[in-house]
Amino acid sequence: MTILGFPAEIKPQEKRCAVLPVNVKAYKLLGATVHVQAGIGQHIHVSDEEYADAGAEIVASRLDLLASADIVPSLHKLSTDDLRHLKPNALIMSYLDPFNEKGFVASLCDNDITSISMEMIPRISRCQKMDALSSQASLAGYVMMMQAANQLESVLPMMMTPAGTLKPAKVFVIGAGVAGLQAIATAKRLGASVTAFDTRTVVAEQVQSLGAKFLNIDLGETGETGQGYAQALTPQQMQIQQREQAKCIAESDIVITTAQLFGRKPPMLIDIKTVESMQAGSVIVDMAAENGGNVEGTISGEIIKHEGVTIIGTGYWANGVAKHATQMYSNNLFNLISEFWHKEDNIFQLDLEDEVQSGCIITHQGQVVNAMLKSVYEANNQTTSEKEDQ
Ligand code: NAI
Repeated sequence: MTILGFPAEIKPQEKRCAVLPVNVKAYKLLGATVHVQAGIGQHIHVSDEEYADAGAEIVASRLDLLASADIVPSLHKLSTDDLRHLKPNALIMSYLDPFNEKGFVASLCDNDITSISMEMIPRISRCQKMDALSSQASLAGYVMMMQAANQLESVLPMMMTPAGTLKPAKVFVIGAGVAGLQAIATAKRLGASVTAFDTRTVVAEQVQSLGAKFLNIDLGETGETGQGYAQALTPQQMQIQQREQAKCIAESDIVITTAQLFGRKPPMLIDIKTVESMQAGSVIVDMAAENGGNVEGTISGEIIKHEGVTIIGTGYWANGVAKHATQMYSNNLFNLISEFWHKEDNIFQLDLEDEVQSGCIITHQGQVVNAMLKSVYEANNQTTSEKEDQ
């Protein structure tokens, strides 16, 4: 018998959770036993009774839930204290941010926990149904655009009325990955005139297919990683980008920045002078606010005004549509677990040779086993020891 134990999320701002009653039924059909912590769905108005009716056992104590489960799926990582209460060899799966959370990864090893990092699920066709980065980023793109529209003092579509013609709002989206493309699509649906830029020129066609313009900036060689992620720009390329996008920013009513570099700090794309070049009343949404920001002056968790320009850095974007975000995340988890479920033995079949599992399993049997993570840690150690030698 394999017990899946779903704890409630402990981050105070978080409304989402990792399972819905419909998934409980699906896990039961697989042959798993499902425990959920009491109150897990309270922020999205799903009651304990609904989970119980679907076949889950409601566990009042978090520690009892952790101590009894073989697999612990959640949205955010557990606390270090939580780890001490898990069974040895338990399997956890959640966002882990392993590049930045080296101490937590060490605790996973110390407690003999096998861990899957949802951020590390490979971006390949087979994994699209498990890809939580994409499902949550897509909703984030929608929410950012809606928040910007709410803050703007004018309408987005063109309106020709007897009282005069209102021009469509100008929206500029920087970074046209999953979130950026959804922000573009949402802005187009609302009737705005949209321009976008990304260092990966392959996305120009996707931007145009949504009816938006692609801002052409010649940065020379930019490239992608093997997984399709952007490479960091050189300082010269950064300068060119900032110079060439300045006019478009100054003329925009809304700027949404979604630029990320996988496993690294997001690039700083808009300096304070460029913010000040925008008309008072314009709005910037900085998706990267929680991790350092794409925009100078952003404050993580806040909406601020700088010389009349509103800068939104609230973060937790997908929380703005927590019910749908939960539906998508819990489906991602179910698709991951069911992909590797061994029906005869009723277990999650670990296979470190599998392309998907080797991409996303971080720790196993007290060791960091993920090749990409190991190489990043080794490179960081080398840089630290080189600095110490100087
Ligand atoms: P991301 O969140 O890592 O980055 C967002 C965007 O920022 C990217 O498009 C990136 O090129 C861009 N960016 C980075 N630096 C920039 C700068 N200085 N200026 C402007 N833009 C900048 O990307 P996301 O959305 O997670 O997608 C990553 C890749 O994975 C993409 O190639 C996407 O098409 C691919 N993908 C593949 C899937 C699959 O299953 N095959 C599923 C989802 C994504």
